[in-house]
Amino acid sequence: MSYTVEKSMVKSSIRHILYKECKREWKNHIKRDKVSLTLSNVNFELEKQLLNHGKVICVEFDKEVYDKAKKRLPANIHFKYDDIFKISQEYPYDFVWMDLCNSYSEKILQNVVEFIKNTKFTQNSIFAITFCKQRGSIEHSKLYQIYGKFKDRGVVSYLGNFFKNEIKEIKSIDYNCFDISTRASIMTVFIFKLGKLCQD
Ligand SMILES: C[S@@+](CC[C@H](N)C(=O)[O-])C[C@H]1O[C@@H](n2cnc3c(N)ncnc32)[C@H](O)[C@@H]1O
Repeated sequence: MSYTVEKSMVKSSIRHILYKECKREWKNHIKRDKVSLTLSNVNFELEKQLLNHGKVICVEFDKEVYDKAKKRLPANIHFKYDDIFKISQEYPYDFVWMDLCNSYSEKILQNVVEFIKNTKFTQNSIFAITFCKQRGSIEHSKLYQIYGKFKDRGVVSYLGNFFKNEIKEIKSIDYNCFDISTRASIMTVFIFKLGKLCQD
């Protein structure tokens, strides 16, 4: 089963930062229900808060995690057993968090790019993505040659190229869930704001 970070204070603060960014952005919007899309794993801490603003869709492709999460699924959250890269794109999203964590390879980045190209985002939506810094080292070294400092600043401009309109990096944060495992890897969560409507 996928690694879970249910009890990590560090992870909890990352969720909190993301929620704060959404709230900061949404208070300037015309009042209407927001649509959020996340990879919740078994923890719905952030998602429960997002429910106060509208619709929340969570996706999980690991059956064991899905079954476990299903048992504690808060009411009104739409939870799909599926691959986030393959789900049908029904809504323009106000917030997407691809908390991939253990996935950082050229293949995943291509999937992310395809997702971005095929997804509708509302004006001033928030797109966040988490990558693990250390895994996939062989591919990393190749990616480094292609994109320079790919793991850090490079990923911002690389993904930025694929958003149709304006993209602004709000912040990127490195964190490490040492509070739940001494072997935890360093993660980076990149938080972007998409300035204009990305797709019609
Ligand atoms: C790091 S966990 C998410 C943690 C959660 N956001 C939290 O706040 O605790 C990532 C989850 O996404 C799932 N996952 C990874 N890639 C996926 C994909 N392409 N489609 C669906 N689920 C995926 C993993 O199985 C895992 O359960």
